[in-house]
Amino acid sequence: MKFDTEIQKRRTFAIISHPDAGKTTLTEKFLLFGGAIQTAGAVKSNKIKKHATSDFMEIERQRGISVATSVMSFEYRGVLINLLDTPGHKDFAEDTYRTLTAVDSVILVVDSVKGVEEQTRKLMEVCRMRDTPVIVFINKLDRDGKPPFDLLDEIEKELRIHLHPLSWPINMGKDFKGVYNLYRKSLLIFHPNQKATEDDIVPIEDLEDPRLASLVGEKDAAQLAEDAELIDGVYGHFDPDPYLDGRTAPVFFGSAINNFGVKELLDTFIEIAPRPRSRETTLRDIDVQEDKFSGFIFKIHANLDPKHRDRIAFLRVCSGRFERNKFYHHVRLDKDVRFSNPYSFLAREKDVIQEAFPGDVVGLFDTGNFKIGDTLTEGEDFFFTGIPSFSPEIFKEVVNKDPMKTKQLEKGLNQLTDEGVAQLFTQHNGNRKIIGCVGELQFEVIQYRLLQEYGASVQFNALPFYKACWITSEDQRKLEDFTRFKTSNVVNDKDGHLVYLAQSEWYLNTEMNNNPDITFHFTSEIHK
Ligand code: G4P
Repeated sequence: MKFDTEIQKRRTFAIISHPDAGKTTLTEKFLLFGGAIQTAGAVKSNKIKKHATSDFMEIERQRGISVATSVMSFEYRGVLINLLDTPGHKDFAEDTYRTLTAVDSVILVVDSVKGVEEQTRKLMEVCRMRDTPVIVFINKLDRDGKPPFDLLDEIEKELRIHLHPLSWPINMGKDFKGVYNLYRKSLLIFHPNQKATEDDIVPIEDLEDPRLASLVGEKDAAQLAEDAELIDGVYGHFDPDPYLDGRTAPVFFGSAINNFGVKELLDTFIEIAPRPRSRETTLRDIDVQEDKFSGFIFKIHANLDPKHRDRIAFLRVCSGRFERNKFYHHVRLDKDVRFSNPYSFLAREKDVIQEAFPGDVVGLFDTGNFKIGDTLTEGEDFFFTGIPSFSPEIFKEVVNKDPMKTKQLEKGLNQLTDEGVAQLFTQHNGNRKIIGCVGELQFEVIQYRLLQEYGASVQFNALPFYKACWITSEDQRKLEDFTRFKTSNVVNDKDGHLVYLAQSEWYLNTEMNNNPDITFHFTSEIHK
C-alpha cells in the first residue's frame, strides 16, 4: 500500500523553453512555493557559485549559460515534485533531449512577445516523439505581446499540437489586469510591482456577475465574457485524457517575474500531471507498480570538484524500490553493482538516501562504469527504449598533439563521450577519430577537459560534413558495397554501428535516391 502511495505522490517533469522565455524565473518561483529556496535570485546565484568551483565551469559562467542538467526535488501540498533542469543553450540541446526521456511531462514556456522560437519547435518535436504530456505557460503578459488568440493559433500551427486554454488574460502590457482561471472559475487580479495575495483571487462562477465589471471595468468584463464564450464554443469542456496522451496541451497565461499566474499553474499541474507510468523496454513493458526495481541512466555529469575524478550518473527509477547497498544487475556490463552513497536532490542539499521510488532521480557516484542508456535491474536483461542519440551538426577530426599521451586520450575521449558531451566516431576500417557535436562550445569544453582531467593535448581539424545518418539495410551486401565505395564518408559510432557523414543536403539526397535499399536514420535510438 505504502509503495503505491509513494508512486501516486510523485510528479517528475522538466520546464523547457527557448532561451530567455523565462524558464529560470519560473523554476525559481516553483522552488519558492515548494520552500526549496527562500529568496528570489537564488537559482541564478547558485548556478554561478556552483560553476565557479572549476575552471571548466568558468567557461559556462563567463558565457552566462547553464550547462548542467540538475534535479531539484521539493514537496508542495503533499506532492513530491522532481523538477529536472535543462540547459537552455542550443549547443547543449542534446542534453535537454535526453533529460526529456526521464520525465513524465513538461511545462513549455513561451514568451508572449516572441511567440514560438527555434528551440521551442525542436523541443516540442522531442516531446511529440514520446507523446509527452505538455502544459504551455505563456509568459511576460506584463509586456505588450501578441494577441492571445493569435498566439494560440501560432502555437497550434507551428508546434502541431491542439491547445486548450485553462486561463485567459485580461489585456496585456501596461493595461494588463489579470487572468481569469477558466478551469477553477476564478479571477486573479494583477497589481504591477506587487506580489499577488490570496485576496487577489476572486471566485467568479458567472462572467455576467456584476462584481467582474466592478473589478476590471465594464469594457474589459464584456470582452472577457465574449472571449470566454468563444473559447467554450471552440474548445469545450477540458478533458485530461488527450492531455495525458500528449495530444492536447492545456494553456496558462501569466508573468513569471511577477509571480503572477504561477501558483495557478502549479496547483493545476499537481492535479492533472501524470504520475510515473509504465515504460517500454527491449523485452516487455515494465509496469511502474512492479515489485522489482528497474531504472536507467539518462545523464552523466563530471564531478564539479576538480580534485575528484569520479562522475555522477543520474538514474531514473522506473519500477520497484531502489535501495542503498543492495546489489543490482548492470545489464550492459553483465555485472552486479551496489551503491553505498546514492543521493537525492531534495532542496539544495544532497542527501544520502536509503530508498527511492518510481519517478525519483537518484545521483550515483560513478568511476566510469556507466554510459547514457545503461539499465539497472534485479536480474532481468533488458534496456529501456526511446533514448535517442541525435545527429550531430559539426564534425572535427581529433589530432593528438602529444603521442606520449595516446592512452590517456583514448580513455578521455571514451569517458567524455559516455557522458553524452559529444559523439565519437571512428573511421570505418581505420583509426581516425572524429567528434560530432551540436554546438561549437562543446569542442572547447572537450579540449579543456581532455587536458585538465586526462593530461591529453589535442587540436581539432574542421571536417566538411553537416549531418550524420545511421545506415541500415535488409541487404547486407548492398550495405557493404556502399561502405566500400564511400570509404571517406563512412564511420562507426561507439557501438560499432555504421554511420554515413554527408557533406551537404544535396549529397545526402543523392545518396538516398541512389541507394533505395539503404535506410538513412537521423537519430539512433540507443536501445531499440
Ligand atoms: P531562461 O531561463 O528561459 O533563459 O529565462 P530567464 O528566466 O533567465 O528570463 C529571461 C529574462 O526574462 C530575464 O531578464 C527575466 O527577468 C525576464 N523575465 C522572466 N519572466 C518575465 C516576465 O514575466 N515579464 C518580464 N517583463 N520579464 C520576464 P534579464 O534581464 O535577462 O535577466 P535578469 O537581469 O532579470 O535576471
